[in-house]
Amino acid sequence: MEKKDIDWGNLGFGYVKTDYRYVSNYKNGAWDEGGLTTDDTVTISECAGVLQYAQTVFEGMKAYTTEDGRIVTFRPDLNGERMEHSAARLEMPVFPKDRFVDAVVQTIKANAAYVPPYGSGATLYVRPYMFGSDAVIGVKPANEYQFRVFTTPVGPYFKGGAKPITIRVSDFDRAAPNGTGHIKAGLNYAMSLHAIVDAHKNGFDENMYLDSKTRTKVEETGGANFLFVTKDGKVVTPKSDSILPSITRRSLIYVAKEYLGLEAEEREVYFDEVKDFAECGLCGTAAVISPVGKIVDHGKEICFPSGMNEMGPITKKLYETLTGIQMGRIQAPEGWLKVIE
Ligand code: PLP
Ligand code: COI
Repeated sequence: MEKKDIDWGNLGFGYVKTDYRYVSNYKNGAWDEGGLTTDDTVTISECAGVLQYAQTVFEGMKAYTTEDGRIVTFRPDLNGERMEHSAARLEMPVFPKDRFVDAVVQTIKANAAYVPPYGSGATLYVRPYMFGSDAVIGVKPANEYQFRVFTTPVGPYFKGGAKPITIRVSDFDRAAPNGTGHIKAGLNYAMSLHAIVDAHKNGFDENMYLDSKTRTKVEETGGANFLFVTKDGKVVTPKSDSILPSITRRSLIYVAKEYLGLEAEEREVYFDEVKDFAECGLCGTAAVISPVGKIVDHGKEICFPSGMNEMGPITKKLYETLTGIQMGRIQAPEGWLKVIE
């Protein structure tokens, strides 16, 4: 199969239209059989649940070309499971995870010409999502829904790739206790748009959100979980009911323990202790592991010993092992790679 003529090495994290997308509709209490289409537009009621009351959830995953030329995706069953939870929390019908994985595989396969070649530094980002599509004017769930999957080739989420970024402690909150921070709902991202635009205006790459109840504990950023390394080499990630359960973070904890022989723990992390960590990074599908060099808290700077030029040594080992697994250079744990072709 011939690859598209794309300058893979210079892709940013943006939308590039690819040839096929998957669509399935929910009506009268059931999903139809679904299938691929070339139509990249969506036609829905002006009063659709998604347009009026933001009834939409999504997922984010990637397809990779491995060293030996296969196309694979990473732990899609976990994305399918998380989307089931997200949908249930917003009173949407569940799109079953087996069908989710099948839809993702079909969409990647149909767009194989857009899966960036091995070693290009780019990947094919896969975006499954669903939304309430019929009219609702009283505040209630829609009756009809659409599930879709599209793909887009992407480069690094943060300009500069593996170069450490600077983030700030946000005065805005992302999620409430007992709210929706733990699911992947569009509304959480709408919440964060003003904060990210304001952060960028002020020269920061991202926001660090603290828990909105006490503002003492580290939560996450707008699009990734945190990962810290202590001075004695232990990996620590924040535990909270109001952050997204990142599949990358869960995988990295396993990699730290089982591949690198490191101690790793998920626990509440107080902002006061952040200054004592040796390394900090953001982890997620889009972010992979993006090192954080500096955190600014209302003018007070926390500069990590790993500096502003390169990743800290343990972050680097985690990064290399995880991407090695995803690109087929390192043996993956059973069930982590789904081979597309
Ligand atoms: N946190 C937020 C708010 C996100 O949007 C994402 C991205 O999906 C993550 C964390 C990382 O999750 P994952 O590793 O499953 O991509
Ligand atoms: C992902 O990492 O897949 C996400 O959904 C993050 C998003 C902010 C791009």
